[in-house]
Amino acid sequence: MRQALLDWFSKHKRDLPWRGAREPYAVWVSEVMLQQTQVSTVIPYYLRFLKRFPTVKALAKAPLAEVLGQWKGLGYYSRARNLHRAAQAIVEVHGGKLPGTAAGLLELPGFGRYTAGAVASIAFSEPAPIVDGNVARVFSRVHAIDAPVGDKARERQLWQLAEALVQGPRPGDLNEALMELGATVCLPKGPLCLLCPIRGECQALAQGRVETLPPPKVRAVRKRLELKVAVCRRDDRVLLARRPDGGLFGGLWELPTAASRAQLTRVLEGTKLGKHLATVERTLTHRDLVLELYATAATPPLKHLDGYTECRWVTEAETEPLGVSAAMQAALERVWRPAADL
Ligand code: ADE
Repeated sequence: MRQALLDWFSKHKRDLPWRGAREPYAVWVSEVMLQQTQVSTVIPYYLRFLKRFPTVKALAKAPLAEVLGQWKGLGYYSRARNLHRAAQAIVEVHGGKLPGTAAGLLELPGFGRYTAGAVASIAFSEPAPIVDGNVARVFSRVHAIDAPVGDKARERQLWQLAEALVQGPRPGDLNEALMELGATVCLPKGPLCLLCPIRGECQALAQGRVETLPPPKVRAVRKRLELKVAVCRRDDRVLLARRPDGGLFGGLWELPTAASRAQLTRVLEGTKLGKHLATVERTLTHRDLVLELYATAATPPLKHLDGYTECRWVTEAETEPLGVSAAMQAALERVWRPAADL
């Protein structure tokens, strides 16, 4: 199975920007971006990020706000914060070079088993296993594993299978071959089994169960999170504030936001809310987010807002470099676009 995967990968791998020189820093950045974001979305972000922060040192030196700004639209901002913190640790503790083993990498902020295994195997040729969603689907089918996505015993089994298979030559290519197979052939719906280099080994195929394995995750329902958002205007500027680090949207800039209208008025030091302007809805992983936008009755002469680390009156151009969540970006679009009739 190893050899079949490696031969297939050599012939059929996609030409992706991070598949050139296997420079550890570049592998790390690409794998962090690829964790929760698909390849086609990642490519332009990856190229821009490496241009702006070409080395671990450059990333470590950059202000966090700028790193978050480069991340705008990728989501899961804790990835960017951890990347930044880990870069600083690598400069301070390891002289700017990434540790060369999965165990060493695991000590750094943001490195879990997946990222440590990916960087150790791809950049340093350590036979360290990795399991992502694609690899999990491949193994679930090859071994006809019945447990649903998210099941703990299944997770353990998948990691053991990955650990056993990665032993041998070219561990990085082997890991990438498994991910690539899941991404391009062993698809969730309509897998292309005729093109699969390991179809002879696949128990799900033999049993006619490829389409039904793995069984879907038993999902908790998303919570609805409704927030009130203040659009304070002054000439061509609006008031933005930066959230404290940590938690949902930590460190990001936003229009002043609170759980209720009364609380929002308190944040704005008594400024009354005016007309309801718009509703912006976004689906996050665990929440259905609903932002209700309100004008303010007066322009508050604010320098500091309760619960925020900083606030600024900014023009549209000045918000560009600031880290803003995708949800808040959608709200800001409604504020800046005259067509939105605000
Ligand atoms: N998904 C995450 N990392 C990947 C990689 N290196 N190759 C293909 N798919 C991936």
